[in-house]
Amino acid sequence: MYVCLCHGVTDHQIRAAVTEGHATRLRDLNRCLGVASECGACARCAHEILQDTLANQHNTAKALPVAA
Ligand code: FES
Repeated sequence: MYVCLCHGVTDHQIRAAVTEGHATRLRDLNRCLGVASECGACARCAHEILQDTLANQHNTAKALPVAA
């Protein structure tokens, strides 16, 4: 779905930016995708997707076995 209509940014692009290590804060999404740099209406939704993706990464990392 489109999150930022001003820049045509989707939730998939936001999740990719996070999982590829380009973004850990809304400011990073602003820099790399332009999110929340115009009207700002997308800021809350983009932040929620960012936090959700970071939490999923953290939970996945905790579930992985530690190599001995
Ligand atoms: S909808 Fe993202 S800046 Fe306007």
